[in-house]
Amino acid sequence: MSEAVETKVEEEIDLTGANEVIDKYIDMPGSLMPVLQGIQEFYGYIPEETVHLTAERLNVYSSQIYGVLTFYAQFHMEPRGKYIIRICMGTACHVKGAGRISDTIEDRLGIGHAETTDDLKFTVEHVACIGACGMAPVIMVNDGTYGSLTVQKTDEVIDKYKKMD
Ligand code: FES
Repeated sequence: MSEAVETKVEEEIDLTGANEVIDKYIDMPGSLMPVLQGIQEFYGYIPEETVHLTAERLNVYSSQIYGVLTFYAQFHMEPRGKYIIRICMGTACHVKGAGRISDTIEDRLGIGHAETTDDLKFTVEHVACIGACGMAPVIMVNDGTYGSLTVQKTDEVIDKYKKMD
């Protein structure tokens, strides 16, 4: 009985964090953007339940919020990994073998572009030039940049993050 209750609680989104974010900005003009940014910072993405809560509390339509979420690439509606791996697919990286690097990462993690591992550890994204062409091919893992990659070096980078919490 208590196990079932615990499982149910885990599956539900606790809206306390979202309510606290809304409380902070509710009286500000133009509060929608800071509220959505705050919610994403708290949960790591924008859970659907928080869209409805925000709509109700800020007195806007949910459809307006979905419009904002769709327009701004910074917002994500699905949970994302702790480590975001951005694989540069720009011209310089492409010429220097970004395809091999991408295949290696996707084989190792079992996920492709815009996908997240089931354990929420990794998200893979293909991106345009990240401005480090001199080090092509390049990937970023969160704020860290890894350049002049070979398949072996890529394996080492992935291993390093796999071992981290
Ligand atoms: S093309 Fe990859 S960093 Fe510029």
